[in-house]
Amino acid sequence: MLKIAVLASGRGSNFQSIIDAIESGYIQHAAVDMLITDKADAFAVDRAKKHGIDALHLDPGTFGSMDDFFIEIAEILKERGIELIVLAGFMRIVKKPLIDAFPNRILNIHPAILPSFPGLHGQEQAFDYGVKLAGCTVHFVDEGMDTGPVIIQAAVPVYSDDTEDSISERILKFEHQIYPHAVKLFVDGRLKVSGRKVIIKDEKKHDTFLMNPIPGD
Ligand code: GRF
Repeated sequence: MLKIAVLASGRGSNFQSIIDAIESGYIQHAAVDMLITDKADAFAVDRAKKHGIDALHLDPGTFGSMDDFFIEIAEILKERGIELIVLAGFMRIVKKPLIDAFPNRILNIHPAILPSFPGLHGQEQAFDYGVKLAGCTVHFVDEGMDTGPVIIQAAVPVYSDDTEDSISERILKFEHQIYPHAVKLFVDGRLKVSGRKVIIKDEKKHDTFLMNPIPGD
């Protein structure tokens, strides 16, 4: 059983999508062992409690530096035998001590088609730019801002009458599909990082790219 830790700061809908994928059997041989939040009031904590997952709040303000904060997280997760870290709306840049402790074992989801629109508010950046194709990306985490090797991406159309909210909602539905799928690929041992590229064993078309009209859209 591969142990997953989730790091989140807020709502936790992507966290929920992974819990659901495990509970439904879509992801097998893995369990979410714990949630760590940097915000005491993160709704993700309620989700963890509901599913019997240990939740720990660590306040970065109580550490001497952000490196110290991530050293503590690395120690806790090593101690628990965690093999995969999933960032789910975790609003911090992960520092070297945690990345070094879990090389190619940290995943993130970003609400834009990287390398376009990294950083905060990817959906807003794409909307303001006027793109006709928006989307989301799951990638391995390196020390940069949303720069690690890409695992899977999804694309959604942007229509003239869209608002930032309607685009975000359309993207989020795909986030909830591609993140569990990326976790499944990792758990099944099908991902290999080769430089900037992620090689997928026994790859099928839907493994790396999703672009479907949303039913009823
Ligand atoms: C998502 O849009 C994700 O792509 C971004 O932060 C948001 C988190 O949403 N990194 P949630 O907390 O998973 O609902």
